[in-house]
Amino acid sequence: MIKVLSITSECAPLIKTGGLADVAGALPLAAADQGCEMRTLLPGYRAIMGKLGQTKKVATFKDLFGGKATLLACKVAGLDLLVLDAPHLFDRDGGIYIDATGQDWPDNPERFAALSFVAAEIAGGMLDWSPDILHGHDWQAGLTPEYLHNAEVQTPFVFTIHNIAFHGNCGGEKLGDLRLDPARFDVDHFEFWGQISALKAGLMGAAKINTVSRTYAEELLTPEFGMGLDGVLARRKADLTGIVNGIDTAAWDPQTDPNIKPFKSPAGKAANKKALQKTFGLAPSDGPLCVLISRLTEQKGIDLLIDALPALLDQGGQLALLGSGDPRLEVALLEAAATHKNIAVKIGYDEPLSHQMVAGGDAILVPSRFEPCGLTQLYGLRYGALPLVALTGGLADTVINASPAALSAGVATGIQFFPVTAPALSNGFTRLHDLYAQPKLWKQMQRNAMKQKVDWETSAAAYRDIYATLVEAGSAQ
Ligand code: ADP
Ligand code: GLC
Repeated sequence: MIKVLSITSECAPLIKTGGLADVAGALPLAAADQGCEMRTLLPGYRAIMGKLGQTKKVATFKDLFGGKATLLACKVAGLDLLVLDAPHLFDRDGGIYIDATGQDWPDNPERFAALSFVAAEIAGGMLDWSPDILHGHDWQAGLTPEYLHNAEVQTPFVFTIHNIAFHGNCGGEKLGDLRLDPARFDVDHFEFWGQISALKAGLMGAAKINTVSRTYAEELLTPEFGMGLDGVLARRKADLTGIVNGIDTAAWDPQTDPNIKPFKSPAGKAANKKALQKTFGLAPSDGPLCVLISRLTEQKGIDLLIDALPALLDQGGQLALLGSGDPRLEVALLEAAATHKNIAVKIGYDEPLSHQMVAGGDAILVPSRFEPCGLTQLYGLRYGALPLVALTGGLADTVINASPAALSAGVATGIQFFPVTAPALSNGFTRLHDLYAQPKLWKQMQRNAMKQKVDWETSAAAYRDIYATLVEAGSAQ
């Protein structure tokens, strides 16, 4: 049994802003099947403290970056959690990263440094359970190796990049507040263009780095996708791999999903489509109903979609969209919905509705400019909503484009467009209409999609292999 401490800022089903939560919530259970005992260290945000059930106090801190804190152990939805209850850092209204006005919390550096600090304390033997491996996710866990570097036991740190757009940078004047070693404020550790970078600290201090698809692991090494860290990653190239995400196939199972009219074959989608059109106030139609479920940000290519909509609508297509985020994108989408009867938009976050959309949609859209993995196209595959996606990152690795070769081999599962521009997406819509107009071919693609393996098994085994290699290397020393 390999003991792993997962360090994460979000975790489904307790707290979620995006796919990181899905991964952090699903990996421990999948890793258990591979012989790993994973516990999860999570901040005790106000929004989750009431949902923990029975807790046990396992450690206390008199002064954790400016206040008292307690570490609570509990079990939620089969997950072994260690919740860091630090009211001065996490007991507040608003988002988990941003305040009510949409600004980053000014003390985000301290909040997540504290999380990383506690991870290092746990590795140092603070509890009666010590991990063999520390597995941190994104910049919020990046400083962990800095708090470990003087430790007697050098627990290996595995670092997973879900989104390199966020660096967790702050000014060098915070060195003392963050309890960092000034002697290591240099290019080989956590200094990045004169600032403290939690992300760089993680990248430099990790024994192994991975991101959430193979294509994105390659893209990260280029200036276009590396977001300034391609040089740092090039230094660590030998230790960088891509492991594609799976999905929780129990929560996303078209045959048992309590949110939908369950179905086994593509034919069962018709009743869900009808219900979805009703929910969104769209008229019954013969054309393809496209769905999109997303954070509304620059990354997700929503502006490209708005520009390409005529190519969907002119040929009788419909769009049902659910999302929230950038207010400008929200307004633009609501305007589009107000001017066209075949567009319906819901602004908000709604888990059950997201299931109904994937069940009722003919196609699911993911026009992202970059996408480390992407999960909604995986839900789409499993529910026979064929993905129309940008050819990038995990979208490139998980969808088989309906090229003439893939169609004649009978293996296509969706449509990819490239470059990631509005004209190329428009062209993608034209191809979508063309395929949708050939019901036999479309059904074949749906069957292929629904058969594709999208669970965690293979990827959890890949994580287990990384952990095992590090444990063996450690015991050989
Ligand atoms: P990212 O992590 O970049 O946001 P992913 O595709 O990996 O992208 O994961 C997004 C997750 O959040 C998926 O589980 C998706 O269904 C969910 N999601 C995003 N927006 C909404 C929304 N408005 N309502 C319900 N679920 C949403
Ligand atoms: C990120 C990425 C997304 C990925 C998710 C989980 O937020 O944007 O592509 O699926 O993390 O790894």
